[in-house]
Amino acid sequence: MQTRILTGITTTGTPHLGNYVGAIRPAIEASRRDDVDAFFFMADYHALIKSDDAARIERSRLEIAATWLAAGLDPRRVTFYRQSDIPEIPELTWFLTCIASKGMLNRAHAYKAAVDRNVEAGEDPDAGVTAGLYMYPVLMAADILAFDAHKVPVGRDQIQHLEMARDLAQRFNHLHGREFFVLPEAQVEEQVATLPGLDGRKMSKSYDNTIPLFAGGKKQLREAIMRIVTDSRAPGEPKDPDNCALFTIFRAFASEAETESFRRGLLDGLGWGEAKQILFERIETDVAPLRERYEAFMADPAAIEVVLQEGARKARAIATPKIAAVREVLGLRRMQTAPARPGRPGTAPKQGRTPRLASFRDSDGHFRFRLFSADGEELLLSVPFADPKAAGVMQKRLKSLGAAAAVVQARGLGLVLEIDREAVASTSEYGDEVAREQALTQLCEALDQLAAQD
Ligand code: TRP
Repeated sequence: MQTRILTGITTTGTPHLGNYVGAIRPAIEASRRDDVDAFFFMADYHALIKSDDAARIERSRLEIAATWLAAGLDPRRVTFYRQSDIPEIPELTWFLTCIASKGMLNRAHAYKAAVDRNVEAGEDPDAGVTAGLYMYPVLMAADILAFDAHKVPVGRDQIQHLEMARDLAQRFNHLHGREFFVLPEAQVEEQVATLPGLDGRKMSKSYDNTIPLFAGGKKQLREAIMRIVTDSRAPGEPKDPDNCALFTIFRAFASEAETESFRRGLLDGLGWGEAKQILFERIETDVAPLRERYEAFMADPAAIEVVLQEGARKARAIATPKIAAVREVLGLRRMQTAPARPGRPGTAPKQGRTPRLASFRDSDGHFRFRLFSADGEELLLSVPFADPKAAGVMQKRLKSLGAAAAVVQARGLGLVLEIDREAVASTSEYGDEVAREQALTQLCEALDQLAAQD
């Protein structure tokens, strides 16, 4: 079985070298494995919590999509989409909100940090705190649970969010008495390098110490590298590779042999200026071909849009039936079908323990019939017949043909039935094939049972 891995990228910034080494490169490598089914998406709803700068969000979405595609993400292998193209995510967010305990959300690190800052400053504890920030973990849980992801590659700072997602999945499963959602696990890569930034602290946009991956081109890359802080040792003096941002960054790109020779160079007194030039050239070797692709994507946003639309289609083929099932479990079914469960557990439904056909006359005086499943759900409504005998013949044929009749119909060969109105309705609403396939499976089962009846 494939492991489904899923991760989101908040679209507020411009990708830097730290993102590339710590997240993009390992995620793309993992997505190439045959035992992995990868879902990568742009968390642009999460971005709205952090920023109200529309231009920035728009630009960041484009840059991030272009970056991942340029870095080698294969959209035929990976389901690559935008959170905001999947309406099932905010829908599930509400369902999870209704079971999330407020106490749990009170303990979320980001919210707590904001409150602590306010208290320290003598302000109202919730000053400037939006409900969006407060609900951040629930939206993230919906991102994950809507797709039944097994593993979620994230940074350490996200572990608590994964625990909350598990908590919500468990709570839902418990309330509804079955393993409805997969319990996701955080995957924190110990191996993956955390790059130091220009000042030696972790490279992060919040420290303003990043080296851009593509933005500004080769020139900016070189300039940034030349600004990496070093100590004051002169050329000829030995340098300590293990306490040096240059060396850590170099190692993240180079082979073992290259790394070893760079280490020796530093120990032998390589000057900082020269060391930076070597580092720049090593990174440029990897980055230059990707940058070229990046620039091509940036110049053709419409091509990216096509990729993302296709990604959304693939993602919704999973999320739509999942959320439809959630709605059903919660009591939000459509009304034309029978209740999901009998009122009291253990009571058998009164009617229809086997599928049945029922004839009737419609308001135009035509003869029609319906097929109900064993649970009393309407699966099929026939087209109108002027002659009741013709309607009867068709019912007999259906009984004798079993599932074959349904399949023939579903392939659009112009038989005489309108398949499952509910499924057809949801199919046009969601535009997806999975709902249609599900309806067809139900129909086939019912027809087979009917064929076996006498
Ligand atoms: N919160 C994550 C971050 O800041 C981004 C994110 C949003 C995410 N939804 C997700 C990551 C779902 C993994 C799974 O890094």
